[in-house]
Amino acid sequence: MDSMLVKSGHQLNGEVAASGAKNSALPLLFSTLLAEGEHVFHNVPKLKDIDSTCQLLNLFGCETQHDGQVLRVKVNRLKSQLANYDVVRKMRASILCLGPLVAKYGEAQVSLPGGCAIGTRPIDLHLEGMAALGAEITQESGYVVAKTKQLIGGDILFETVTVGGTENIMMAASLAKGTTRIENAAKEPEIVDLANYLNKMGAKITGAGTSILTIEGVSELKPAEHHVIADRIEAGTLLIAGAITGGEVTVTKCHPEHLPALIEKMRESGFKISHDKNSITVHKCNSWSGVDITTAPHPAFPTDLQAQFMALMTQAEGTSVISETIFENRFMHVQELMRLGANITPKTRVAVVRGNRGQMQGAPVMATDLRASACLVLAGLVAKGETKIGRIYHLDRGYERLEDKLSTLGAQIMRVQ
Ligand code: EPZ
Repeated sequence: MDSMLVKSGHQLNGEVAASGAKNSALPLLFSTLLAEGEHVFHNVPKLKDIDSTCQLLNLFGCETQHDGQVLRVKVNRLKSQLANYDVVRKMRASILCLGPLVAKYGEAQVSLPGGCAIGTRPIDLHLEGMAALGAEITQESGYVVAKTKQLIGGDILFETVTVGGTENIMMAASLAKGTTRIENAAKEPEIVDLANYLNKMGAKITGAGTSILTIEGVSELKPAEHHVIADRIEAGTLLIAGAITGGEVTVTKCHPEHLPALIEKMRESGFKISHDKNSITVHKCNSWSGVDITTAPHPAFPTDLQAQFMALMTQAEGTSVISETIFENRFMHVQELMRLGANITPKTRVAVVRGNRGQMQGAPVMATDLRASACLVLAGLVAKGETKIGRIYHLDRGYERLEDKLSTLGAQIMRVQ
């Protein structure tokens, strides 16, 4: 089992490119189930979760080929519509095969995902949405079974904003008979990217990026080609890596307009942030203030950057109150940061961080989930001495060669057995 060894004392400076967005590529790959033929995606990152998705598509009978940044998916007449537990338990996003399979083939059997480190993460809203489109949903020995002769468009109001739920219903409704209206839809850039691809395939979706989505069902969709948007969470992580070491880092091939809350909060904290159309720069800064953040659906502060921002706040002057409103257990990184000497008081869904710049000491720590592992890498850049992060496989789910990218910026970081 690999670990990551990070040495402190190196300011990060220079340019680094963001990869394609994991949380856009995953639903895009599942959307291919809606249209037989060959789909081509550019700017697809090499990540464990992408491999897991290709494995699941292969189980359905699709052929996948991922060379460099281009991923081709050949969808033939499926030989199975069963998403088995072994794959689903490794990646919750597997539930995104439900909508496309039911819409296109009238049936799907998807293993219940089970929880994960950051929370129970139910799928009730996905199932309620599918039922609203006429699918018969039953549960049989750990599997959700969904069946229909033909999905019928309908009105859906999500009581909680759900990214995956919005994606599943948007895909299913694309082939339903009639029109579907989703209220309180997620507005994340990844929703817009998926809607753009579905429309390229022939779907009729309007309102993507707003809280009201309208999908006029069509009888058939055709495969198409698409360039995946940049990963805003990776871009934000790389910016914070520059910021926490007091360096000047420019993240290229990204979309500044996808990170409004992070840019605003870093400026409020005292960082000078500049950007052009496809790059963001954090300028050198040797002292910054604690600021409060509350995570919430886009365009508010993204929960996927909460852990990374907390690492930055451990080095701030003053106190930062960090509120996590999306997941009930997304503070697993707090204990690990405290092992490094951070001064944090965790409460229920709120953590109070008292900045103690320069006080952290490197130590062995444990990654617990994807973004917590990124947080610990960032903390390792400034915790005096060496920090060894165990269970680094969590990191590989969502970051493409992070150690290489940070090394090019001047970090002393390496993967060890
Ligand atoms: C997506 O997860 C992302 N994953 C997550 O990123 C991200 O943290 C999350 O959206 C929120 O932005 C992918 O896109 C693959 P939700 P998703 O449905 O769709 C509750 C990362 O680090 N809920 O928006 O699973 C749920 O428990 C990952 O890259 C229900 O109650 O998130 C949570 O509290 C982590 N019932 C809230 O809604 C449901 O049926 C938001 O979840 C569905 C969700």
